[in-house]
Amino acid sequence: MIGRLNHVAIAVPDLEAAAAQYRDVLGAQVHPPQDEPEHGVRVVFVDLPNTKIELLHPLGEASPIAGFLEKNPAGGIHHICYEVADIRAARDRLRAGGARVLGDGEPRIGAHGKPVLFLHPKDFNGTLVELEEA
Ligand code: CO
Repeated sequence: MIGRLNHVAIAVPDLEAAAAQYRDVLGAQVHPPQDEPEHGVRVVFVDLPNTKIELLHPLGEASPIAGFLEKNPAGGIHHICYEVADIRAARDRLRAGGARVLGDGEPRIGAHGKPVLFLHPKDFNGTLVELEEA
């Protein structure tokens, strides 16, 4: 059911430093920072030949990244995103198998303008999983 790895999202305490590291030390193609107020994040997209990295930093008071960085002050992998062809069909299949879908279960428009859902990390080996319809 799942397809390509769309991205790996890493929460970082210093977005500028992390972007510079990916650009200058790792030699990756790094985009300028982008504010996404509806998701409570400022994000830097990093293009790799086979996937993307998203460097996430809290934006605003109610950012979902703030609590994560409190528990992981040095930063860390926040979630991974897999592509699915039909997000509602994927959701229904996962629910039927006992997996918990976060929120009200209705797909939201994610950072790339496509519908996304998140799955409970306790149901996936301690990893927050995002599904994106692609
Ligand atoms: Co994501």
